[in-house]
Amino acid sequence: MRIGVLTSGGDCPGLNAVIRSVVHRAVADHGDEVIGFRDGWKGLLECDYLKLDLDAVGGILARGGTILGSSRVRPEHLRDGVERARGHVAELGLDAIIPIGGEGTLKAARLLSDNGLPIVGVPKTIDNDIAVTDVTFGFDTAVGVATEALDRLKTTAESHQRVLIVEVMGRHTGWIALHSGMAAGAHAIVVPERPFDIDELTARVGERFEAGKRFAIVVAAEGAKPKPGSMAFDEGGKDIYGHERFAGIARQLSVELERRLDKEARPVILGHVQRGGTPTAYDRVLATRFGWHAVEAAHRGEFGMMTALRGTDIVMVSLAEAVESLKTVPESRYAEAECVL
Ligand code: F6P
Repeated sequence: MRIGVLTSGGDCPGLNAVIRSVVHRAVADHGDEVIGFRDGWKGLLECDYLKLDLDAVGGILARGGTILGSSRVRPEHLRDGVERARGHVAELGLDAIIPIGGEGTLKAARLLSDNGLPIVGVPKTIDNDIAVTDVTFGFDTAVGVATEALDRLKTTAESHQRVLIVEVMGRHTGWIALHSGMAAGAHAIVVPERPFDIDELTARVGERFEAGKRFAIVVAAEGAKPKPGSMAFDEGGKDIYGHERFAGIARQLSVELERRLDKEARPVILGHVQRGGTPTAYDRVLATRFGWHAVEAAHRGEFGMMTALRGTDIVMVSLAEAVESLKTVPESRYAEAECVL
């Protein structure tokens, strides 16, 4: 069998572990040939690839990022490129393509699969917002990075009697905010799923100072928004891929809370540090399992499918089902965290 693999969309710790696992299972165990397309779908559309043998994936298990490179692609660009992609797949004699990516990549995978290309997807995103899998690799690493940052920020916040508003990734969902905030004992968490009440947030932080505490930590998912009309808020615009370009919830909240509470407030934006660096052991294992199962699915001819974690098992689910909706934080989780607005 000849397999093409690619990584597309925002990078994520664990991508290299999937690539390595695909190559190990396919080349070493099945005697397959594997090629890797450079920079995501772009590589498939431009027929830009490299051979992936066992040497090519040596030493990459613990490495962050992706040895193949990644990029985002505009949906219309891919739609226009379906015939070109089909041509390259035929030309290269590929029997399967394994794209590793998040929401946008999986939608693109579904489009190509609906057009007859032999696709087996692997989900990834630090945001953990893919509905059909219990968890995606990258999430555990991102939560660990954010939690360590929050732990560190507590001591400096206390020294200066400040409110620190820490912005974590999470464009549509608040999974990283919820888990890191819970793990670090944040005093308030705001998430995209539930627009927050600025009066309630002010009261929550204010009561803490009134009770004699000397600092407060607010965790804000980047996509969190105040209830409409409750405070001046710049929503930002859209980028060329149609993604929201956020104007900075932490910065805006720090201005508002400082004004309302008469306490020093500072924004801290963790940004891409959450995506970089080595994956945790959990993410390496999940990524390795996904890669192994993707190759097996390709050998069974299970195309138009994607690997997913259900409980402790890796199962295959249809790409159509995978892209239907996002996995948002359920209401029941807010109460457990105690401090979600
Ligand atoms: O989707 C993953 C993600 O890390 C989001 O949390 C974040 O909003 C986005 O990617 C950032 O994208 P970029 O790297 O293009 O700025």
